[in-house]
Amino acid sequence: MVCIRRARADDLLAMQECNLICLPENYQMKYYLYHILSWPQLLYVAEDYNSKIVGYVLAKMEEESTDCHGHITSLAVLRTHRKLGLATKLMTAAQTAMAQVHGAEYVSLHVRRGNRAAVNLYTRTLGYRIHDIEARYYADGEDAYDMRKQLKSMKHLHQQHNNHHHHHHHHSGGCCSADEKPSTATRT
Ligand SMILES: CC(C)(COP(=O)(O)OP(=O)(O)OC[C@H]1O[C@@H](n2cnc3c(N)ncnc32)[C@H](O)[C@@H]1OP(=O)(O)O)[C@@H](O)C(=O)NCCC(=O)NCCS
Repeated sequence: MVCIRRARADDLLAMQECNLICLPENYQMKYYLYHILSWPQLLYVAEDYNSKIVGYVLAKMEEESTDCHGHITSLAVLRTHRKLGLATKLMTAAQTAMAQVHGAEYVSLHVRRGNRAAVNLYTRTLGYRIHDIEARYYADGEDAYDMRKQLKSMKHLHQQHNNHHHHHHHHSGGCCSADEKPSTATRT
């Protein structure tokens, strides 16, 4: 039995370990910490019955851009636990939180052109579209697909979420929470 749950700070070492085993793109611990401190709702782990972390998704909001969107920084599932639907569940959890908590309109990611398992997962199972191709994006010269998936249909849930929590806590960390959004009157 494997469960999908939000990641905690004490999962980060196991997530980094899983990343090192599964992918050539690795990150310093401070980058994991930056994610969990900034967007705690967007990190998920797959945990087996022995409390072992067997998969993770590391995600963030893009805050420099004018549009509001989420980005998948990294995703991996240990070889022993693949083809069980875990990556699909991890991705769905992160995408839902991006839309509900941060009002993301779409989610973006980069994937190696030759990563057949991941490309299939994103296009066939999760409904991502190839938005662009970035030539020689990776350190070894491989091209990346810049993929996107629209999350628009969840926008109303974000409004509900904000209204519901309005009196309880300050809604921080989002690039476009309802009160921070520029009104249409100020746009030219
Ligand atoms: C890509 C990865 C995360 C998929 O994890 P997973 O838990 O096995 O994926 P799922 O079980 O949710 O698979 C969903 C779909 O992905 C596709 N897929 C997964 N593995 C595949 C494979 N080996 N070959 C072809 N398609 C594959 C299939 O379309 C699958 O749907 P199906 O089971 O109905 O055929 C996993 O293979 C992995 O960790 N790879 C190494 C790290 C990596 O490449 N991460 C992504 C970097 S962008």
